[in-house]
Amino acid sequence: MDQAQQLRIIKASQQNRPMARVITVTSGKGGVGKSNTAINLAIQFRKMGKRVIILDADFGLANIEIMFGAVPKHNLCDLIYQGKNIKEIITWGPMEVGFISGGSGIAGMSNLGSEYLSYIVQNLAELDSITDIILVDTGAGISDAVLEFLVASGEILLITTPEPTSITDSYSLLKALHRHPRFKESDTKIKMISNRVEKEQEGEALYNKLNAVVTRYLKIPMTYLGCIPQDTQLTRAVMQQMPVSLQQPQAKSSKAFETIANRLLGIEETERQPKRGMAAFFSHIVTGR
Ligand SMILES: Nc1ncnc2c1ncn2[C@@H]1O[C@H](COP(=O)(O)OP(=O)(O)OP(=O)(O)O)[C@@H](O)[C@H]1O
Ligand SMILES: [Mg+2]
Repeated sequence: MDQAQQLRIIKASQQNRPMARVITVTSGKGGVGKSNTAINLAIQFRKMGKRVIILDADFGLANIEIMFGAVPKHNLCDLIYQGKNIKEIITWGPMEVGFISGGSGIAGMSNLGSEYLSYIVQNLAELDSITDIILVDTGAGISDAVLEFLVASGEILLITTPEPTSITDSYSLLKALHRHPRFKESDTKIKMISNRVEKEQEGEALYNKLNAVVTRYLKIPMTYLGCIPQDTQLTRAVMQQMPVSLQQPQAKSSKAFETIANRLLGIEETERQPKRGMAAFFSHIVTGR
């Protein structure tokens, strides 16, 4: 099947469908708070009445399921190779946040034949109609797989902490993204979140520092979404496999996630971003367009 054929299948499946907003959470350095951000923003969006699904695209370590305390029966591989439909592979967690475990399914997707592709795309298009927001939690580091997800996303949330290595690794990630042949700054908005800060000013200073080098050497726009404080209540919630936003809604980190979720929903109105939807997201990954 050539690319034109692949694109026709995808376009056909998108007609007259509502499309979900695809937001990918990423970082240069591991362990800086991506999975926590994905899960807590999901809870906050639910509180605001949005339907949310998290796609756990960290194929090595199943982060989200551990944080939810729920074990999914299926993953994306079962959709591709076992003929399951999309609804069968969604696990519903607290507050009806849905999540899909990626498994190792996406790695081999570029080699699939047309019957497989149209099946997958039709299923993913169905996801567009049952959810408003899809949060993609990526693995750590700058791998080709992570970069593919980033160029396919309409929005990237880049998590950075005040640690010097986190700042340099964030810069390296943006540099790799900037060099990616399919990266277009008009299609993918980069939004930074400062995590584990002591004060708001520290979060802003961190953004200013990273943004200065990004503007100077990469010349790509990066906006600031806000900060999440260092919070022992968050650490405790992680130990108990509960999102802090559910367990301690008044905790300072929960409040920060609420502010950021509000800001993201506000941006939707002012930015008027083209919602690209899940089918388009995967078409990028599969066909490279
Ligand atoms: N704001 C915070 N306050 C206190 N602790 C935090 C905060 N953010 C993250 N942590 C701690 O950092 C740990 C790692 O967070 P998380 O699992 O979300 O990172 P990650 O970027 O998804 O990691 P990985 O790269 O391994 O997937 C958490 O278990 C928690 O203990
Ligand atoms: Mg993680």
